[in-house]
Amino acid sequence: MDIPLAKPFFPATTHKVIEEVLKTGWVTQGPKVAEFELKYAKYTGCKHAIAVSSGTAALHVSLLAMGIGKGDEVIVPDFTFPATGNAVHFTGANPVLADIDLDSYCIKPQEIRDKITSKTKAIIPVHSFGHPSPMAEIMEIAKENDIFVIEDAAPAHGAEFGGIKVGNFGKAGCFSFHPRKIISTGEGGMITTNDYEVAEKAKTIRNHGMDEITKHDNLELKLSTFSILGYNYRMSDILAAIGIEQMEILDRAIEERRRLAKLYNDLIREIGMDVAAPLERNNVKHVYQSYVVLIGKQNTRNATIKALRNEGIGCTIGTYSLSNLPLYDGLCPNGTGAFNDTLALPMYEGLEDKEVEYIVDCLKQNYK
Ligand SMILES: Cc1ncc(COP(=O)(O)O)c(C=O)c1O
Repeated sequence: MDIPLAKPFFPATTHKVIEEVLKTGWVTQGPKVAEFELKYAKYTGCKHAIAVSSGTAALHVSLLAMGIGKGDEVIVPDFTFPATGNAVHFTGANPVLADIDLDSYCIKPQEIRDKITSKTKAIIPVHSFGHPSPMAEIMEIAKENDIFVIEDAAPAHGAEFGGIKVGNFGKAGCFSFHPRKIISTGEGGMITTNDYEVAEKAKTIRNHGMDEITKHDNLELKLSTFSILGYNYRMSDILAAIGIEQMEILDRAIEERRRLAKLYNDLIREIGMDVAAPLERNNVKHVYQSYVVLIGKQNTRNATIKALRNEGIGCTIGTYSLSNLPLYDGLCPNGTGAFNDTLALPMYEGLEDKEVEYIVDCLKQNYK
């Protein structure tokens, strides 16, 4: 067997739309990016969507658009891909780590309360592996303390909390189109926001800080003053054309992932192993960007990964614990436990039922 961990799916029409963009000669940010943004905004129900070059860029731009920088503190969950915390570091602010709940792998609201200081400017809850963070409580904490919320929704296209799509709760939502995500443009990211000023600022920051003004000279030349520091975080029209096609398959991909997750859950529970299948809390829609289990017997996860890989099964750790990395400080026992004991199994549209059965069977055989 040769079962990859993840496999992006591109409809047959994708080649044609790429060719059409190439023929126009407009290959940087242009009409296709604008169309992709409109489509993404409509899908999430957010007023604005701003396409950028990656999920990391989306986080960086959002933080800057809210004026976060040196001397500020931003609360991030310990158990996440380093990009969440690194984006805070980019701005000169200090990432403060909060521990997670082990059922959803999302940030613990009480931990946020415990970590708030007079310097706290924002919280970045991560919708871990596609499971929404507890947004009602997080928004309440943010309101009480007058701090921003930026949702790291990198893995959570289409996920819902209380029937509302993620990306609508915070001042901004940040999504990724990396190939391990539910839909992909190769590389890419999207910022969603319902705040006009954040949207306008984000557009300026992604494009070198370029703000168009009319110069008062005889030629009426339009030149920018570059009044704020910006970056080149633009998305190319080639990738946006791919993204537009991906939007057509998003709901189907989510439903297929949810079906596969249920199959995995049933099989794992059936064999009664000391392996915890992921759960879906009440009131949320999990989109299973990754299917992550918690191995009950400590110090056996790495051996399980090796054994499954020997059987031709692509698998890896759940994700990282920032407190275990040199660039971060903190003590987060649940995050550390999840870093050591979680296992991501294959999950993608096109994974066959008999392959899921084979994977769970191999897990059973190799679980010691
Ligand atoms: C939780 C989380 N945040 C941010 C990112 C960064 O996204 P990108 O790889 O598109 O920069 C990722 C994924 O890679 C992620 O999983």
